[in-house]
Amino acid sequence: MRTYVITGGTDGIGRGLGLHFLARGDRVVAVASGQGKGDAFLAEAERLGAADRARFLRADLSTLDGMRSVAAEVESTVDRLDGLVFGTQRFRPRREETPDGFEYTFALSYLSRFVLGHELAGVLDRAESPVVFNVAGSGGMPGRIDWDDPHLREGYTGMRAAMQASRCLDLLGVDFPRRHPGTRIRYVLYNPLFVRTAMADPLPQPQRTITKTLAFFLAQRVERAIVPMAALIDAPPDAPVSAFRKGKPLALTGDDFDPEAADRLHRLTTGLLAAR
Ligand SMILES: NC(=O)c1ccc[n+]([C@@H]2O[C@H](COP(=O)([O-])OP(=O)(O)OC[C@H]3O[C@@H](n4cnc5c(N)ncnc54)[C@H](OP(=O)(O)O)[C@@H]3O)[C@@H](O)[C@H]2O)c1
Repeated sequence: MRTYVITGGTDGIGRGLGLHFLARGDRVVAVASGQGKGDAFLAEAERLGAADRARFLRADLSTLDGMRSVAAEVESTVDRLDGLVFGTQRFRPRREETPDGFEYTFALSYLSRFVLGHELAGVLDRAESPVVFNVAGSGGMPGRIDWDDPHLREGYTGMRAAMQASRCLDLLGVDFPRRHPGTRIRYVLYNPLFVRTAMADPLPQPQRTITKTLAFFLAQRVERAIVPMAALIDAPPDAPVSAFRKGKPLALTGDDFDPEAADRLHRLTTGLLAAR
């Protein structure tokens, strides 16, 4: 029986993967901030006959307290972790700061994956073939990291924040093996493209209705979108880091995967964390 921790595991892609693993007999810890979706996830697990293998861990992963409490809880309750799947997101049309003083999307989409990935590397390395599966925006819409203003105090838009987080996540993946020499963990970055999820819920009108209508006609259903993802989690490539766009491998070249920029981002991030 394998064990998976899935952030954003109560909705959309994370939920789809969690229920897939539960249905085949694995153990799943779903992490999210809302009790209602957590209860619904557990009810679905019970319906699948997997109540004793499903757990909901409630935490706000936009906060350092939330990130660290999840890392500590997993480390103290899980012997070895086969897969750590990252799937949290919440689009923020207006700029918000977390209690730690971080821009919300930077904290939730990027920092939570930085903290949890590095802190859980030890428990992952105890598994036979461990994988970090980062559902992100690799090879997708362009975006850049604002090195002088990562919290986007100037010129914030929700899309700019989301795209900056995507660039940070690609660099996080590139950098990961360098921070864990000799690790057996394979790090997979995966862009699912357009999937019909709760993604549009926080959008203001009329964008919400437009996006949901487009999703109805153009986006993949979760059940279908997760098929190549589950296959990659079961059998990731041999390379320490790999990236995919809807099942197709991406070359780890160009600015998005630049090792020097990855090193710079690591230093920026550890500096930001040390200051809190
Ligand atoms: N859907 C797409 O078309 C698409 C395209 C490209 C990339 N992606 C990526 O795929 C991943 C999954 O996206 P999705 O569309 O499946 O998302 P989704 O349906 O919106 O689900 C998001 C999940 O994150 C949780 N979450 C939100 N805020 C949180 C917080 N502060 N703390 C902890 N958990 C929180 C939500 O639960 P609570 O609200 O209860 O906390 C929910 O379980 C994301 O990384 C996204 O960037 C998606």
